Amino acid sequence: MNHYRELVNTDIQGKNVLLREDLNVPTDNNEIINDERIRAAIPTIQYILSQNAKLSIISHFGRPKSGAFDKKFSLKIVAERISKIINKEVYFEETPISEKSPDYKNDITLYENTRFLKGETTGDDNLAKKMAKNCDVFVMDAFGACHREHCSTFTVSKYSPVTCGGLLLMEEIKNLDKIFDKPKKPILAIIGGAKISTKLTVLRELINKVNAIIIGGGIANTFLLSSDFSVGNSLSEKSMIENAKEIIKLAAEKNVLLPLPKDVVCENQNQIYVKKVGDVNENDIIKDIGPKTSLKYKKLIEEAGTILWNGPVGMFEKSSFESGTKNIAVSVCKSKGLSIAGGGDTISAVQKFSNINEIDYVSTGGGAFLKFLEGQELPGIEIIKKL
Ligand code: 3PG
Repeated sequence: MNHYRELVNTDIQGKNVLLREDLNVPTDNNEIINDERIRAAIPTIQYILSQNAKLSIISHFGRPKSGAFDKKFSLKIVAERISKIINKEVYFEETPISEKSPDYKNDITLYENTRFLKGETTGDDNLAKKMAKNCDVFVMDAFGACHREHCSTFTVSKYSPVTCGGLLLMEEIKNLDKIFDKPKKPILAIIGGAKISTKLTVLRELINKVNAIIIGGGIANTFLLSSDFSVGNSLSEKSMIENAKEIIKLAAEKNVLLPLPKDVVCENQNQIYVKKVGDVNENDIIKDIGPKTSLKYKKLIEEAGTILWNGPVGMFEKSSFESGTKNIAVSVCKSKGLSIAGGGDTISAVQKFSNINEIDYVSTGGGAFLKFLEGQELPGIEIIKKL
């Protein structure tokens, strides 16, 4: 970790510290339904407070329209949750940082959603200058937002005297680096989710790095289509068929195992059927992988030395279609190989079906985790690199 400026090696004693976290947690009816990301930020918060520093925290929350306040995307509930966890008052500043100069008067302040500010998502320089005002050290800790070149994740570092990486960000880098730094083989990637278009780059990149790829969800349907199987009315992307063919060809050239599902669970007029992929008819909707496919995937997981997982392989929210994702979650948790999972849906699935502590590392990143796997430079990590 020698090439990074780290919080633990930075003098913040009694200083004004601006901390960027990713506090973008899922909510339902203005209630937090999973606070993993908040909990992951706590060690950095506690560390900064232990150095008698004055702490201002900033984060985005959802995707509100820029330049306008929207109650639905207010971080107020998050301030309350942090306060409850650390058992200390967290002052919630209803005005987003920069509209009012940060004064670092309170021990700990959480500012309102950065995305309410015009210029945040475009990385505006003037806004960044205002954000960095009065701060001595900027701590980047929001791994989940590291792929965004936004004002609060990137530009602000230009105007803060010192920038360094927080405890969570360093932990993410250390663990994710293990994936491709002398990994134990075979390396298996499990890539599920709805759309191949959002995972196309990662699939292409993974072919150069892994030994096998399991695909599931809507992505697998597009692969089935590209191999001339009917997927009926299932979720798929016809415009991506050629891309799927190209990936199958590339995988074969590089000797990467890319098994397609052999059987699937379909719904048709409220009836549920397990079918061989060749038997899916035009009115069927594929919603999960079938038991034979699950068994095959289980074997691949058992044999893997390193496993990366992003994305469920079926509609696991409904009990009739949870089996495939459940089997994967259980097998990944039991596996002897190094297991690393990332992405909101993946984490919900692991929490629902198994013990999340049995996964070797759970990343707080969704999009950032994928970009990392793609081997891309992430702007939020670039800013903590030593020159
Ligand atoms: C995430 O949930 O992946 C991060 O918080 C980033 O959110 P964004 O995709 O809205 O930038």
